[in-house]
Amino acid sequence: MTSSNPIVSVENLIVRYGEKVVLDGVNAAVSPSEIRVILGGSGCGKTTLLRSIVGLIKPYSGRVKLFGRQIEDMESDADSDILRRVGVLFQNGALLGSLTVAQNVALPLELHTDLQPAVVDEIVRYKLSQVELPHAYGLFPGELSGGMRKRAALARALALDPPLLFCDEPSAGLDPVTSAGLDLLLLRLRETLGITVIVVTHELFSIEKIADKILFLHKGKTLFDGLYTDARKIEDGPVADFFLRKETK
Ligand SMILES: Nc1ncnc2c1ncn2[C@@H]1O[C@H](COP(=O)(O)OP(=O)(O)OP(=O)(O)O)[C@@H](O)[C@H]1O
Ligand SMILES: [Mg+2]
Repeated sequence: MTSSNPIVSVENLIVRYGEKVVLDGVNAAVSPSEIRVILGGSGCGKTTLLRSIVGLIKPYSGRVKLFGRQIEDMESDADSDILRRVGVLFQNGALLGSLTVAQNVALPLELHTDLQPAVVDEIVRYKLSQVELPHAYGLFPGELSGGMRKRAALARALALDPPLLFCDEPSAGLDPVTSAGLDLLLLRLRETLGITVIVVTHELFSIEKIADKILFLHKGKTLFDGLYTDARKIEDGPVADFFLRKETK
C-alpha cells in the first residue's frame, strides 16, 4: 500500500445523536504507518469519530473506508474480517471484570485464532510485558489502578498484532513516566511493524513526541488537517489556543 492509498478514509461524515448533530461533514485520510492525533475540546466528537470509524456507531451519512474497503455493517462477515485487523483501546478501558487480566488479553486470540493454549499464554505474557504489566497477569480489573487498567486494555488491543490501532486517550490517568513509556511503545510499534495509529490525546508532550499529523475537530467540522509542525505555526483561533492552553473566545 502506498501513501496515495489511505488506510483509513472518512468522507463527509455526519453523525447525529437524535436531533443533535455531533459530526457535521468530517473528512480525513490517514496513510499507512502514520501516527495521527485527533484533537479538539471536550465533547467535540473525538470519541464519536473513533467509534464511527470502527463501525460501532452508524453514521447518519457519509463514508468510512478501512484498508480501502467501505464499512457497511459490522455484523457482516466481510466487515468483521476487516475489523479483526483493527485494535481499539477505548476511553474507559472496557475490560471484562469477571476475567483476569491474562484472560482479558487472551480473549481476542481465543475468539479469532486456533492457537494452542500454551502459545496463547506466551503471547499474553509478551503483550503484558510490552505494556510493563507482567505482574498484573493474575489480577482482576477491579484490583488495578486506572492507569494499569488502561495498559491492560492496550495489551488486549494489541493481542492480534493489528496493523491499525485506535487509542482513545491512552495517557489519561497515567503518571508522566508511564505515559512517556506508552509513547515510546507506539513509536516502536510503528518503526518495527509499520503499525498505523490513530490516537485521541490532550497531552501536549505526547502530541509533540508522536504526532505526524493532526486532525483538529471544532463545532462538528475539521478545522485543521495536516502536519503537526504546520499546526504549531497557526497564530490564532482554536488550534493556537489549544497549544497555548488558552480558552477559545
Ligand atoms: N450515546 C450518546 N448519546 C447521546 N449523546 C452523546 C452520546 N455519546 C456522546 N454524545 C454527545 O456527543 C458529543 C460528543 O461526545 P464525544 O464523546 O464524542 O466527545 P469527545 O470529543 O470524545 O469528548 P472528551 O474529550 O470529553 O472525551 C457530546 O456532546 C456528548 O454529550
Ligand atoms: Mg472522548
